[in-house]
This record gives sequence, structure tokens and C-alpha cells, in this order.
Amino acid sequence: MNNPQLRVLISDVEIQKRVVEIGAQITRDYKEGDLVLVGILKGAFIFVADLARAIHRPVRMDFIGISSYGKGKTTSGEVKVTKDLDASIEGSNIIIVEDIVDTGVTLSYLIGLLHNRKPRSIRIAALLDKPERRLRPVQVGYTGFTIQDEFVVGYGLDFAEEYRGLKDICVLSEGDAG
Ligand code: IMP
Repeated sequence: MNNPQLRVLISDVEIQKRVVEIGAQITRDYKEGDLVLVGILKGAFIFVADLARAIHRPVRMDFIGISSYGKGKTTSGEVKVTKDLDASIEGSNIIIVEDIVDTGVTLSYLIGLLHNRKPRSIRIAALLDKPERRLRPVQVGYTGFTIQDEFVVGYGLDFAEEYRGLKDICVLSEGDAG
């Protein structure tokens, strides 16, 4: 990778190892019952794909589109559903799969929304967690990596729709817009 603005923070090898561990933990935790991974678009799409293959029991997948960020690096504080789930989650065990928990605004909104649809249980799997930035308390059941307050891209995460396809998670240094 030859972009001077990008510094590898977590390599693809480390990511894959951790995703396999989380998948094994989820397999152990959900021995019975219906299990649905609810991926938050767009950032979680790669994590969902890898996690689903690391879980060794039947699992369904659905996606919800939420936007809480504009084109910059700071939250707008506004959350809106841009694409709803395709199927009912009533009576199902749900794992919300998120790329990164930052302020917690998106997830606390989403938990409220999905709770009203009467699932059997709700947990969160987040690949990354930036606890320093939290504004709303959120209980994360499965965390990949806890990171400092730095803006990261890659493995599904973007900056203004760029960099989602990078295999590694990289810090995007200042100097870019945002
Ligand atoms: P929250 O509502 O502040 O927790 O925001 C969560 C969402 O903000 C994530 O799903 C990401 O889309 C975005 N986000 C937060 N931090 C970063 C980052 O470092 N890089 C890319 N996107 C981020």
C-alpha cells in the first residue's frame, strides 16, 4: 500500500484471527434457537461476511441501513433508517453486527428500534470500539479490538465512501478533508 496518509493499525491477519475467535464464541453461546445477524450498512458488510463463515451453526442474515454521519469525520448526531430489515425478527435471537462503536448514538437508537419488534434477545458484535468517544452507554457483547480516538478506514470502513476495500484497518492521517 503506497498511500502516505494511511498507517496500518490492525493487519488483515490479526483481523481474521480475531473474527474466528468471535465466531467460535458465538457458536458456543447460541447452542439453540433462531439466530439472525443484523448487519449495519454499509460499514459492517465485510465483517458480517467473515463472521457468518466463522459461526458454526445455522444463522440468517439481514441488513439495516442507518446513517448518522455526513461526509466528514464527525457525527451529525442525527440517525435515520435508510434501508429497513427485510424480515420480522419477532422471537429471534439477534446479533447486531457493527463495524465500530464511536459515540454510541447509532447503536442506542437501533437497539430501541429493534427492541420494539420483540426479538427473543439482542446482543452487539462490534469489530472496533472507541470507548473514549462514548456519549451514550452501549453494552457490547463481542468486541474485536478496542482502539484509541483515531479515525480509521478499511475492512468496510470508509472516509467519504473511499477505502472500504482495504484489507487492513488503517489510520487515516490528518490533511484529508473532514
Ligand atoms: P456512532 O453513532 O458515533 O457510534 O457512530 C458509529 C458509526 O460512525 C460507525 O458505524 C461508522 O460508520 C462511523 N464511524 C465512527 N468512527 C469511525 C472511524 O474511525 N472511521 C470510519 N467510520 C467511523
